[in-house]
Order: sequence, then C-alpha cells, then structure tokens
Amino acid sequence: MKRIGVLTSGGDAPGMNAAVRAVVRAAIHYGCEVFGIERGYQGMIDGAIRPMDARSVSGIINRGGTILHTARCMEFMQPEGRMKAAAQLKRFGIEGIVVVGGDGSYHGAAKLHEEHGIRCIGLPGTIDNDIGGTEYTIGFDTAINIAMEAIDRVRDTAASHDRIFFVEVMGRHSGYIAMICGIASGAEEILTPEDPTDIDSLIDSLRQGHQRGKTSSIVVVAEGDDAGDALQIAKQVAEKSEFKDARVTVIGHLQRGGSPTAFDRVLASRMGVRAVEALLEGETGKMVGIQDLQLTLRPLSDAWECRSQFDPSLLRVARILAV
Ligand code: ADP
Ligand code: F6P
Repeated sequence: MKRIGVLTSGGDAPGMNAAVRAVVRAAIHYGCEVFGIERGYQGMIDGAIRPMDARSVSGIINRGGTILHTARCMEFMQPEGRMKAAAQLKRFGIEGIVVVGGDGSYHGAAKLHEEHGIRCIGLPGTIDNDIGGTEYTIGFDTAINIAMEAIDRVRDTAASHDRIFFVEVMGRHSGYIAMICGIASGAEEILTPEDPTDIDSLIDSLRQGHQRGKTSSIVVVAEGDDAGDALQIAKQVAEKSEFKDARVTVIGHLQRGGSPTAFDRVLASRMGVRAVEALLEGETGKMVGIQDLQLTLRPLSDAWECRSQFDPSLLRVARILAV
C-alpha cells in the first residue's frame, strides 16, 4: 500500500488531532503518501482531499477539535454516495483509509470496504465512550475532566446558596460521562439512560440527604436520561416537591472542546501508529481498541455488536458515597 487517507467523522472529540498527526507521521515513517480527507465522508464524496506531510500536522497534538473538520453526511448512507466517494479515492490512488469516529462512521467504512474494496481501519473517536471493542475512546478522558471541573464550580455556588443543581452532561445514548464525572465530583444523584429514573424516588433521596444534614445537592443528568433532560427533570421535581428553587446548568458542547489530556493524546498517538501498521499488514475492516492497557485489533462490527456499557457496580459506589 502506497497511499493512505485519513478522515475524522461524526461528532468531534479532543484528541482527534493527535490521532491525525500519528497517522500522518506513521505513514510517512513507513514510506507511504498520506492524504487528509476533509469533513468526513462529505469531503470524500466532494473530493476535498489534500496531501499531508509531517509539517502539516505540526503543533496540533495539543489542540481540540479536528483540523480536518468533521461532518455528518446523509449522502454517504446511500450506495450512490459511497460510489462517488470510492471513485474519488480511486482518483487519488488511495487504497486504504483510517477513519477516526464512532460506530456510525464504522458502519460507513465497513460498507465502503464491502462494496468497493477500500481497505479501512477505525479509530474510536468520541467523547461518549460508548463504542464496543475498546475500554476507552479518544476524547472521553478530556470530556470527563472538563465536566468534573465544571461541576466543582457549580458545587461552590450550590453550597453557598444551599441549593439543588441539576447539571446536564452529554451522552445521548450513554450515561458513561455522567457516571464517571458524577463519582469524580461527589454528586448526590447520577441519572443515566441505563438506569430508569423515577422522579418520586429521586425526590425521596434528595429529602433523605437533607434530613442527614446536607444543605445542597448536585444531580448529574445524562442528556439522554429516560425521564427527560435536566430542565425537564428539574420541572418535574419542582412540581412534585418542596425543591422549587433548583437551578439547571447544561455543560453541553464545552465538553467537546479544549486541549486534550495527556491520556487522550497518548491513546490517540498509540492508536494512530497501530492503525497504519495494521493497514500495511494487510488488515481491513478492523478497529483499534484498548483493553487492559494493551492495544487490540478487532472487527469493526464489535463497535456496535459489543456495545460498551459502564460497569453497573459504579452505580453502587456512587450511591454508597453519596450518603
Ligand atoms: P459517529 O461516527 O460519531 O457514530 P454518526 O452516527 O453521525 O457519528 O455517523 C457519522 C457518519 O457516518 C454519518 O453521517 C454517515 O455519513 C456515516 N454513516 C453512519 N451510519 C452509516 C450507515 N449505516 N451506512 C453508511 N454510512 C453511515
Ligand atoms: O459526540 C457525541 C455527542 O457528544 C453526544 O453525547 C451528543 O448527544 C451529541 O454528540 C451531540 O452532537 P451534535 O450537537 O453535534 O449533534
């Protein structure tokens, strides 16, 4: 393989730049030419493809976002879109690609391989940490640290005013971020899509906390919680209880930006090198993951078939410590 393409796709995540840098420099190290594909699959269809050299990825390991930009591309969901994309790759002589994204992006890569023989390796890039086949995704560590710092700040004002705060963190389908930053910030309650939320029990638990001497409480809510978002849950609590003066903070996209942590930079660097090596070994339809601190290479389909869930014992830890 002489020419490799790299793209970032789906929601951006801190550390994607470190992954792009690693892919570009590893490809050069192994004597390949490497091309950056802009705006995910949209740029592939449009032919927004440019040669990259070692200097084009200088000074990006510490930057959030993605210099290649990212997109969600409906056209690529159709066979005709993928046909156009494959034709562009062939025009540039690109035989294999590294896709940094979530399981949606992997579905696209798997189809591109099945239908057009383009070799592909996936790197898990999403803050949600909800991809099967890996214990950590690139961006998760940064996101939980940002959310934790934000909750620490909210705690200061909550404690000063003896208030309840509902803090919403990202995770449309996953409560992983909520669970980890909730434990890390000592939240009184953590509401996730994985664990059904009952408003009456939540009120009960907040009351009990107050009876035990708590004067303020933090409720961390994953945006995809079954009882609604943080604002909706705060309204339901206010309607049914004496807790009418609660405040709501939505951390939102702040969690997706900013300089990646050392953990995410190193994870992305290791994974990027491994992805290039895998392509050169003739692998395709695989994702690089990490398990027990060792890199793994598993089928792309593990991303959606072995969907990652947080360890249920974390909920027990959170409850025991929120006394
Ligand atoms: P993520 O990769 O973070 O899960 P998305 O689910 O939005 O993000 O997927 C990113 C892009 O991958 C989509 O916009 C689309 O172009 C492509 N994609 C997703 N699912 C499929 C699919 N089933 N078939 C083909 N392409 C897909
Ligand atoms: O990157 C994953 C994620 O952060 C989800 O947790 C969230 O629901 C979604 O992206 C929001 O992305 P966007 O605002 O780009 O649609």
